[in-house]
Amino acid sequence: MKRVILACILSLTVTGIMADGKKAAKWQYDEPAMRAFVDDLMSRMTLQEKLGQLNLPVTGDIVTGEAKSSDIAALIKQGSVGGLFNLKGAAKIKEVQKIAVEQSRLKIPLIFGMDVIHGYETVFPIPLGLSCTWDMPAIERSARIAAQESTADGICWTFSPMVDICHDARWGRISEGNGEDPFLGSRIAEAMVRGYQGQALQAENTMMACVKHFALYGAAEAGRDYNTVDMSRWRMFNEYFPPYKAAFDAGAGSAMASFNIVDGIPATGNRWLQTEVLRNMWGFKGFVVTDYTGIAEMTPHGMGDLQEVSALALKAGIDMDMVSDGLVGTLEKSLEQGKVSMKDIDQACRRILEAKYKLGLFADPYRYCDLRRAGKEIYTQDSRQEARRIAAESFVLLKNEAKLLPLAKSTKIALIGPLANTRANMPGTWSVAAESSRYATVLEALQQAVKGQGEILYAKGCNLLYDAQAEADATMFAREMRDERSVETMRAEALAAAAKSDVIVFAGGESSEMSGECSSRVNIEMPDAQHDLLVELLKVGKPIVLLNFSGRPMILNWETEHLPAILEVWFGGSEAAYAIADVLFGEVCPSGKLTTSFPRHVGQLPLSYSYYNTGRPLEGSQFKKFRSCYMDVQNDALYPFGFGLSYTTFNYGQLRLSSDKLSMNGEIVATVKVSNTGRYDADEIVQLYLCDKVGRVVRPVKELKGFERISLKAGESRDVSFTINAEMLKYYDNELTYGVEPGEFELMIGPNSRDVQQAVFTLQNQ
Ligand code: BGC
Repeated sequence: MKRVILACILSLTVTGIMADGKKAAKWQYDEPAMRAFVDDLMSRMTLQEKLGQLNLPVTGDIVTGEAKSSDIAALIKQGSVGGLFNLKGAAKIKEVQKIAVEQSRLKIPLIFGMDVIHGYETVFPIPLGLSCTWDMPAIERSARIAAQESTADGICWTFSPMVDICHDARWGRISEGNGEDPFLGSRIAEAMVRGYQGQALQAENTMMACVKHFALYGAAEAGRDYNTVDMSRWRMFNEYFPPYKAAFDAGAGSAMASFNIVDGIPATGNRWLQTEVLRNMWGFKGFVVTDYTGIAEMTPHGMGDLQEVSALALKAGIDMDMVSDGLVGTLEKSLEQGKVSMKDIDQACRRILEAKYKLGLFADPYRYCDLRRAGKEIYTQDSRQEARRIAAESFVLLKNEAKLLPLAKSTKIALIGPLANTRANMPGTWSVAAESSRYATVLEALQQAVKGQGEILYAKGCNLLYDAQAEADATMFAREMRDERSVETMRAEALAAAAKSDVIVFAGGESSEMSGECSSRVNIEMPDAQHDLLVELLKVGKPIVLLNFSGRPMILNWETEHLPAILEVWFGGSEAAYAIADVLFGEVCPSGKLTTSFPRHVGQLPLSYSYYNTGRPLEGSQFKKFRSCYMDVQNDALYPFGFGLSYTTFNYGQLRLSSDKLSMNGEIVATVKVSNTGRYDADEIVQLYLCDKVGRVVRPVKELKGFERISLKAGESRDVSFTINAEMLKYYDNELTYGVEPGEFELMIGPNSRDVQQAVFTLQNQ
């Protein structure tokens, strides 16, 4: 009887409205019903079945029709698998789900995850690029479309958002995060979670977010992937934790542990991190999955054999094991030996079952496998239009001397460079579901844009890198034919095209796999093959526009000195090429602003605009003996955080404060009039920074505390105001006490972190 009632609770579905206006099945649940259901189910599970729920094995190459005979199928039938990941296609997924639901003893559905990091088949800019839009509705929308497409194709769990703060451009995975700032990173984390999960996962076109990589992965020493992290807790809480916390506060249903160590213990086995901070301090109720082989990797870290480290992970608060086979393979023995308790196992199992329940998988295991949806909702014209708009917003105009850009469509353009005619490199790193054969190259998009008006003379000009093996490594997942012609032949062809043109557009920089996982680099200047060609092209005497493709800040000193225009285009996704044409020809006015500092030299790294003064701060930029500086390079960034130009010009009026005194529970308002003084309608991102002049611990020289993206028509002006209260001024001291004390603060507003106006106010006790 009890089971009949539970089945009734489970089948409660109502309808809701989907993002595209159509009706979608909605699933509603309440906590007591979920608890009762999971209690009942767990009372019928064997120990091995419980451990099976904790297992997220590597999928293998399952293809439709063969699923039943693969090794994974046998494991699923015996109840030893909780979910699978990075398997693409609703039909395939449905078939695998069927094995779980029809052939395993308890018919528990699997959860299907994927790295849907910046879109599904409609691909948005890599996260670092997306962050440069500073456009929260656009970022939320990108995640919403990603969820719509993924859930139409069988996926209900995404390993995103990746919110690791990073100050080190050497680290390849800086491309996957939102840059260096905790405040902006937090707003983006919230927007992504809202976009993926919608209203608490009720609609079938929403998916569960997985916040990663918890924690501090972006602070790997020397920017080398997976490397040691060593950081004070004071710094963790002030600078690195806020985006994770913001994502959990926004309701993210799951988290992924990072590969690195935190305070001497791998994050995967770190109880302080996964339980004390995440659950006890922050109240997280979802489940934690390891990263790929995260448990097994604790052995080379020096934490013991697979049995030891599996027990350590479970005890630390890990619920699901990605690929190590540690939890499913060793916990029975550890239970017998008293190394873990049944309570520990039950707790992890419950969290996995609850996630499946919240996703409505018990009510309908095929909820995300509606084959009709897959045909209609993926890579639609509407989604592509949004991706194109958002990609154009992500580009950052670094330089535009003598208003070289935008170009007239009638211009004769020599399009040169190794990235000018590549399809595979357009989506960018971590585009698991991308179908790059459908995406346009820059050459195709420019040809289309100028049709009947101008001419595009194309020459590749050079390979990505001189060294063929290095190029093969740098294009591992996005391989296209390396040009076998000689350097001289390719160069001569490019110089001939350049000579016939009015302007040279050079599409170069990094390939998409020169950033991303295990793509750390110490030389982040323009690769020699491309630099040498640029030197030759310069001699032709035609103006050069650099379209710089990169998944990280590159060092662009030479380019800044010699080239009149530089547009940083990151990897803009499936519609990037069209978006590039939109910006080059002025259909869209560039508005992106950097979310990570572009260094002058790799030796400056790690680098951030939000640094702490030493006792011997440098004034100005010239070397001075016994001051904190370098003999051979300036301290500051070449292009600072928040920087980005437009085709128009903006004027910032006098900064006004409603009062220069702020009480503990009051507020003051800072206002500045921003005017569009140029000829183009355009967007501007107005930024607010604060500095606490005297603290309980040292405080950064500047911290972003607000921003507003505004649209101004040519000639239009608008007052932009920010409200400041004491809450915004709080910080953690070295006892991890969160608070603020009275005193003087500096407030700064400007178009980037460098060019700001200042005012001073005092926080008073009353
Ligand atoms: C990455 C994760 C990713 C996982 C699953 C790992 O190598 O670090 O970010 O989610 O693989 O593909």
